[in-house]
Amino acid sequence: MRILLLGRDGQVGRELARSLAPLGEVSALGRAQLDLSDAARVSATVRAASPEVIVNAAAYTAVDRAESEPQLAFAVNASGPAVLAAEAARLGALLVHYSTDYVFDGAKAGAYVEDDAPHPLNVYGSSKLAGERAIVAAACRHLLLRTSWVYGPHGSNFMLTILRAARERPELRVVDDQVGAPTSSAALARATAQVLSAGAEGLYHMSAAGKTSWCGFARAILARAGLHTPVVAIRSEEYRAAARRPRNSLLDNSRLRAACGVALAPWEEGLAEVPFAAP
Ligand SMILES: NC(=O)c1ccc[n+]([C@@H]2O[C@H](COP(=O)([O-])OP(=O)(O)OC[C@H]3O[C@@H](n4cnc5c(N)ncnc54)[C@H](OP(=O)(O)O)[C@@H]3O)[C@@H](O)[C@H]2O)c1
Repeated sequence: MRILLLGRDGQVGRELARSLAPLGEVSALGRAQLDLSDAARVSATVRAASPEVIVNAAAYTAVDRAESEPQLAFAVNASGPAVLAAEAARLGALLVHYSTDYVFDGAKAGAYVEDDAPHPLNVYGSSKLAGERAIVAAACRHLLLRTSWVYGPHGSNFMLTILRAARERPELRVVDDQVGAPTSSAALARATAQVLSAGAEGLYHMSAAGKTSWCGFARAILARAGLHTPVVAIRSEEYRAAARRPRNSLLDNSRLRAACGVALAPWEEGLAEVPFAAP
């Protein structure tokens, strides 16, 4: 299987380079080789590679910055995937693409299923939803995976931010009224390879099992690292951020399990296996 992987330097892309390798011949590109906002280059690159599967892990993921850079967020998260989808349709290739819990507003009482109506609260979520819709509209073969609260040993993520802050500050103040499932980049990449091998197509929720708040996640990270910095629980209103975020980010993964028997482990297990330096 010829696989074209985009976003190879991101936290999920790095893990995908590993997990996809057994499935075939992987050509992996980062932003330096291919800027997703450059439609002409995206088309030319996909045509030259002529892949059977395109895995897009590249995205504009700066949730707060997106509020002041909506054009760039939409160029990378919606227009770029639209071009990928058009090229996938032309080639008959499968497009694997990630989306987010932030397409929902968080007002639902339970976990979101794939058929729940999206209603993003921020520019990032709107741009990712526009990307999903562009892919579906292009009618290419697609595997759309919505995930949540991704973290890992590389890049920019909550776990690394908390570890850094805990070493620099006497106490941390962390939001306790937003719940979700922290999903490790390695677990997500492994599950993606499994779903790809199983031949599933369509829209699926793919996140770790269980739930916690950002505050609960921060405490678990510090416990794992052997750090004793106190963590004070605060409300969303007390944390000044440019983008609004959903209170409930839980994604129901039943469709994924039913379609191909893939289920991610509880988030605590994902955290336990992530390598990070001792204090
Ligand atoms: N992170 C989360 O919590 C989360 C939650 C739900 C869904 N997701 C989705 O999961 C997928 C993977 O995210 P991630 O966490 O791995 O994000 P990430 O670590 O930020 O990686 C994204 C990669 O895309 C690259 N990129 C940005 N703009 C680009 C452009 N114009 N052209 C080409 N590449 C570009 C980034 O390069 P630079 O580093 O140079 O900017 C980075 O290497 C994304 O679709 C994201 O929306 C993430």
